[in-house]
Amino acid sequence: MKKLITAILFLLPVSAFAAGGGTTYPNDPANIDLSDKTSLQNGAKLYVNYCLGCHSMEYVRYSRIAQDLELTEEQTVNNLILGDQKFGDTMDKSMNGDLAKKWFGVDPLDLSLAARVRGEDWVYNYLRSFYVDPSRPFGVNNTVFPEVGMPHILADLQGLQAKSDELLSVEEQIAEAKAVLNDSEASEEAKAEAEEKQHEAEAAMAKLAAEGKMFVQIKEGQMTPEEYDENIRDLTAFMAYTANPVKLESKRMGVWVLLFLFVLLIFAYFLKKEFWKDIH
Ligand code: HEC
Repeated sequence: MKKLITAILFLLPVSAFAAGGGTTYPNDPANIDLSDKTSLQNGAKLYVNYCLGCHSMEYVRYSRIAQDLELTEEQTVNNLILGDQKFGDTMDKSMNGDLAKKWFGVDPLDLSLAARVRGEDWVYNYLRSFYVDPSRPFGVNNTVFPEVGMPHILADLQGLQAKSDELLSVEEQIAEAKAVLNDSEASEEAKAEAEEKQHEAEAAMAKLAAEGKMFVQIKEGQMTPEEYDENIRDLTAFMAYTANPVKLESKRMGVWVLLFLFVLLIFAYFLKKEFWKDIH
């Protein structure tokens, strides 16, 4: 028992670390549903059409996707395999890594495991948080991943958004408070006041995010905001699936395990009754 507790204590900081990293906004829950095959199929389609050019999924084979997402080989070849890749191949990106480095300053990561490393909610919010920023090389920045090197690939679908006036004002308050807190000459009193202001501004930020008021749409896309969110949910679901393909299987298996345990419980109960009947 003691060993078990020690083991659990050892694991705790690891999981805390995985979940941590400071809050970024927006932080809406992704609410993905891995049992929804249509959602996963749509996510896979979006991924190969919009992401695979730059981001490979080295650990994922088309044939495995077909099996898990209930697609026939023909459907997979027609809808998911662009270029000259084969059914049994892993999902390689079409762009050459050196070229990408030249263009983006970094070679875009393999995303097989991204949803596990960053978290599903992070991915979901990241893909909804590009905003216009003329100072950046691609004219966009991102509140979830500031100074990101990725262009807004889905701008055709989402349209373009800019930071709202409310958000700009809250950000200014946070920056002012931080400036006082970092100023070695500031008095204790001023610092205490700044700290309070910072807390207030952060609460205001969380509220703006929760109410969906961080951004204003400045150019319409092919999708309504609701449709866009729905599609990003599907894309996130697909990435969550590739990050942990056995999850689909373990869920299915989990049901059988529970059923088995239930049946075992009934037997155990009657066995117990049988054992104790002469003693009472
Ligand atoms: C034109 C190339 C390109 C395309 C297409 C592209 N990305 Fe990216 N992506 C990048 C680059 C470059 C970075 C690295 C950004 C950085 O480190 O500053 C990145 C970073 C990311 C990250 C953050 C990875 C991390 O953990 O640091 C995620 C998640 C991501 N992209 C998802 C996507 C998804 C989903 C799509 C498809 C909708 C997509 N990307 C399409 C170039 C691209």
